[in-house]
Amino acid sequence: MTEGLIAPHGGELIINMAAEAERAELQEHAKSLSQIVIGSRQLADLEMLAIGAYSPLGGFMTREDYLGVVNDMHLSNGLPWSVPITLSVTSAQAEQIKVGQQVALVDTDGVVQAVMTVEEKYGYDKALEARKVYRTEDEAHPGVKVVYQQGEVLLGGPVRVLALQPQVFAEHRHTPSQARALFAERGWKRVVGFQTRNPVHRAHEYIQKCALETVDGLLLHPLVGDTKGDDIPADVRMQCYEVLLANYYPANRVILGVLPAAMRYAGPREAIFHALMRKNYGCSHFIVGRDHAGVGNYYGTYDAHYIFAEFDAAKLGITPMFFDHTFFCRTCDAMASAKTCPHSSDQHVTLSGTKVRQMLQAGEIPPREFSRPEVAQVLIAAMRNPRA
Ligand code: ADX
Repeated sequence: MTEGLIAPHGGELIINMAAEAERAELQEHAKSLSQIVIGSRQLADLEMLAIGAYSPLGGFMTREDYLGVVNDMHLSNGLPWSVPITLSVTSAQAEQIKVGQQVALVDTDGVVQAVMTVEEKYGYDKALEARKVYRTEDEAHPGVKVVYQQGEVLLGGPVRVLALQPQVFAEHRHTPSQARALFAERGWKRVVGFQTRNPVHRAHEYIQKCALETVDGLLLHPLVGDTKGDDIPADVRMQCYEVLLANYYPANRVILGVLPAAMRYAGPREAIFHALMRKNYGCSHFIVGRDHAGVGNYYGTYDAHYIFAEFDAAKLGITPMFFDHTFFCRTCDAMASAKTCPHSSDQHVTLSGTKVRQMLQAGEIPPREFSRPEVAQVLIAAMRNPRA
């Protein structure tokens, strides 16, 4: 079906969504099972597992995979994987669950989302996970905070997912199989994936277009799962992407999709994770710019580039495309980076996130060299009408 595209991680898409007949059976069966209430992070993980975006995973990680990922960035089958995908419960809950039994995973409204077979329950070292995955034990780190707030015991085992979340951004919510079919329809073989949790500004646009010069197509793939409170909400960002694509990108070379996963802010480790998910969606290439998936000052500007050298490139499969910090240079009269611009930094248009926010809040359009005016207008309008 998708001849010529990169193979999924592990060779085939592992779809953990129950088929229709199985779903009816499981719904009935779930009524007799103990329930575990899950939050938005795990719901997002279930969707990723359901659609095959986490291939080769078949469920929440068992101990061997978890420790392999935390300590060595590989699954027990030898494939690279950099971020734990886990389901935690409290010690009291864990005592009620027997290894080998099935449990129903329900959302906060009590709706059964999946049936999981508990293959293992195990304790884990949160500080170790924080240090290894996030490179810090600081609770102020948004990813570390989630780990510290989790239950004390992890449940590992396969899941069968019964329902997908309400389909916000339905038009752009392609499964990996659907994204692959879209690429194949267009005859694309070399496709570059772009992760973002921000509006696309000129620096993002520039690196996307540099990459696009050498491949067949671009999958603009914003993450729309949980992000930290001060990131711009996904619905506002989607409007930014749409207006930008309509005005500045060739329609036949770009597909706007969404990645339903939650943001971890794990910097370098997350760059690998982001790349592997895009491999599953059919991307042969993946853009990694400055401080990819970083937050605060926890990571060096190019740590997310260096980490790729720790892997066997053939096992990763997807090819990273690295970009240095880019900016508009007034003397070059173009977007550039230190690799392409000889001029001093006083010629460079760089604005801090805080400065941009202040300008937008005051209804001021940042310089065209920083952001496209159409994108700025969307952001100004959103700031004037914040949701309750
Ligand atoms: S991220 O958390 O999703 O990485 P963001 O949406 O800001 O945050 O970045 C998306 C991608 O663009 C990442 O690969 C990031 O490294 C890259 N990037 C962002 N700003 C720049 C810039 N000024 N120069 C080069 N790369 C950048």
